[in-house]
Amino acid sequence: LFLPFLIGLVGLRNLGNTCFMNSILQCLSNTHDLRDYCLRNTHRTDLNNNCRAKAALMEEFAKLTQSLWTSSSSEAISPSDFKMQIQKYAPRFVGYNQQDAQEFLRFLLDGLHNEVNRVTVKPRSPMEDFDHVSDDEKGKRMWNKYLESEDSKVVDLFVGQLKSSLTCNECGFCSTVFDPFWDLSLPIAKTSGEVSLMDCLRLFTKEDVLDGNERPTCHRCKTRRKCTKKFTIQKFPKILVLHLKRFSECRVRTSKLSTFVNFPLKELDLREFASDNSVNAVYNLYAVSNHTGSSLGGHYTAYCRNPCVGEWYTYNDSRVSPMSSSQVRSSDAYVLFYESAASSRMKVIKILS
Ligand SMILES: *[C@@H]1O[C@H](CO)[C@@H](O)[C@H](O)[C@H]1NC(C)=O
Ligand SMILES: *[C@@H]1O[C@H](CO)[C@@H](O)[C@H](O)[C@H]1NC(C)=O
Ligand SMILES: [Zn+2]
Repeated sequence: LFLPFLIGLVGLRNLGNTCFMNSILQCLSNTHDLRDYCLRNTHRTDLNNNCRAKAALMEEFAKLTQSLWTSSSSEAISPSDFKMQIQKYAPRFVGYNQQDAQEFLRFLLDGLHNEVNRVTVKPRSPMEDFDHVSDDEKGKRMWNKYLESEDSKVVDLFVGQLKSSLTCNECGFCSTVFDPFWDLSLPIAKTSGEVSLMDCLRLFTKEDVLDGNERPTCHRCKTRRKCTKKFTIQKFPKILVLHLKRFSECRVRTSKLSTFVNFPLKELDLREFASDNSVNAVYNLYAVSNHTGSSLGGHYTAYCRNPCVGEWYTYNDSRVSPMSSSQVRSSDAYVLFYESAASSRMKVIKILS
């Protein structure tokens, strides 16, 4: 006997161009740890000062997630209460215009994080100078510094750390900067054929020469110099969100690239992009936000691998239907959700023990 409800196979009603929101909500609802956080009401203990007025978005998000997983029928659910809260938090979502799913995801995660931030009083410590320590140590200290003011379940899951190294072409001095990231926006190489996700990541982390007006100040030379800049991933998040930059702003018109980006469903190994190549950085795909159409209009759906049954399903607003994993890769894939293989293995061990 197969019951679509109770295992999250419930659709979301379209309230009028809200497919961008439904698509992201389904991807998040299939994010195992975030779902459990909502189902177990753990967010209640994290709510800022238990001030309900300041936690309305998280409450509605948790309620919606609970409805998707505990509804006693397979009938689609209306996300209108949730929409009310997200538009209070971010007024740009008022009304029924088509919006960008990745921007929506950013706003939503930011809103949820602010409400369940374990830090209620942010320290006002002066900027410290970490330049006398090793890069690795500096990365760690910068990360701890970040946690002193931003620390939540959302950060535990989604936030990683990026290292950018700036090398002076004149004296060879290398300075490093560490920044948290909530997702990576990857450029797509212009080509007539298909590209791979690794190509996009290589383009993203490619050495960039800063010259002319862009020349930064070298700390050793004490003057502006031509420099090379390069990104590496210092700390890998549990959930890695990769956004394919399909939309580009050119003058007044936005255009869309429909290049086929080939990405692995299993064992995406990102060690090549790590600051420290000995780390384990293997990921498995579990959700995709799919966008069809042009930049002017289009439709979003979600493909998610159900965490209970391990099979893939298409979420097209109120409709949920099984799909083959061979259909997941397409030139419509827009936002990819990967889970660290190490943290999914941990879960299996927990279930078995
Ligand atoms: C992506 O979604 C659109 C409709 O939203 C659909 O037409 C297209 O077939 C989907 N892509 C795949 C590979 O199913
Ligand atoms: C989504 O549903 C609409 C009808 O509501 C349909 O026209 C469209 O083809 C569907 N897209 C996919 C990818 O199933
Ligand atoms: Zn220099």
